[in-house]
Amino acid sequence: VDEVTLPPLFDAHVHLRDGRMLEIVAPYTDRCCSRCVIMPNTQPPLDTPLRLVSYRQAVAHSLTRTQPLYTFKISLEQTQHLNWLSQFQSLGAIAGKLYPEGVTTNSAHTGISRDVLLSLDRQTNPLRPLLAEMERLGLVLCLHGELPGEFCLDRESAFLEVVDELLALFPSLRIVLEHITTVDAVRYVTSHAAKDDRLACTLTLHHLLLTLDHVVGDALDPHSFCKPVAKAPEDREALVRLALADFSQVFLGSDSAPHLCSSKEHQGCAGIFSAPVLVERLVQFFEEYDALALLPDFAVRRAEHFYRLPSLDLPPLVLVRRPFLVPETIQGIRPFGAGETLPWTLHQE
Ligand code: NCD
Ligand code: ZN
Repeated sequence: VDEVTLPPLFDAHVHLRDGRMLEIVAPYTDRCCSRCVIMPNTQPPLDTPLRLVSYRQAVAHSLTRTQPLYTFKISLEQTQHLNWLSQFQSLGAIAGKLYPEGVTTNSAHTGISRDVLLSLDRQTNPLRPLLAEMERLGLVLCLHGELPGEFCLDRESAFLEVVDELLALFPSLRIVLEHITTVDAVRYVTSHAAKDDRLACTLTLHHLLLTLDHVVGDALDPHSFCKPVAKAPEDREALVRLALADFSQVFLGSDSAPHLCSSKEHQGCAGIFSAPVLVERLVQFFEEYDALALLPDFAVRRAEHFYRLPSLDLPPLVLVRRPFLVPETIQGIRPFGAGETLPWTLHQE
C-alpha cells in the first residue's frame, strides 16, 4: 500500500503547555487529532476553576480542529473546596490527574506523598473525600503511576498496590493508569481489566520504541529522557504486544511533553515532544507489525468508548508513502526522531 487513511486520532494524554509554547506546539496536535486530553501540569497548574477558565480561552485560540478535553490537577486543597469538582466538570474537564509528589515535571510540593498514597485505607486520608466526589460525578481518575521514595526503575511496579486500593475503595470510580512502561503494569492491567472495565491504561509512542539504552546506554541522551523512564527490552516488548492486542482497555496517550532544548540539556527536564511525528510514526509502527487494521481501535475508538464520547464523523487523515524528514528543532524544541527520515508523510490540505 502507498496510501493509508485513518480517522483523526484521539490523543488521551498530551501536554500542550501555555503561553508561547502552547502556540508553538498546539498545531501539531491540531493537524492529526479529533480529540485530545490535555494535562494540567502547567505553571501555575490547572488546579482551581478560575485557572481552568483562562486556560480554556488560551487553548481555544490555538486549536482549530481538535476538540480539547480538559483535566484538573488534583491538589489536597480541593478537599476544602469539593464544589470545585463539579465546576471543573462544567468547564469541560473529564478527568482529574493525580501526580505523586516529585516524580515528574511540575509535581513538587503537592503534598501527595508516599505516605498519603499508602494510607488510603484510613478514613482520615485527605484524598478520600475528593476521590469520592470524583466518583459521584463520574470524573475519571488519571494516574501518574509512580510511587515516590522507590528506586526510579521500580516506582511503577510499586505503585500498583495503590491502584489496587483505589479500585477497592471506590467501586464505581473509573481509572486510567497513564503511560505504562513495565511488564508488571501490563500484567496488572490485563489481569484486572478482564474482570473490571473501570480500569484502562494508555501507551505512548516513545515507550513502544525506546529502552533505557537509548537514554543512558551509550552517551547520555537527554532528549530520550522522560517519566516514567524507558525500561528494559522485555518491558518494551510487553508494551508492543499490548499495543497489538485486541484488548479494549488500552489506548493511545502520546504524553507529548515539549521542553526547550536548553531546559532538557541543562536542567535535565523529563519529557519527549512526539506530536510532530505522532501519526506518521504510529502508521510506520503498525505497518511494521502488519497490523494497520488495529490502529483505529488503538488510537481512536477505545478512548472514545472509555470516555463515553460519541465517534465523530470527520474526514479521514491521509498518509502517503513519501519520505518525511523530521526537523532537528522546532522553535527551539527537539521533536522525537529529530533528523530521521520516516517513510510516511501526512497529506495536509
Ligand atoms: C511530562 C511533562 O514534561 O510535563 N514529562 C514526562 O516526562 N512525561 C510530565 C509527565 O507526564 O510525567
Ligand atoms: Zn504526561
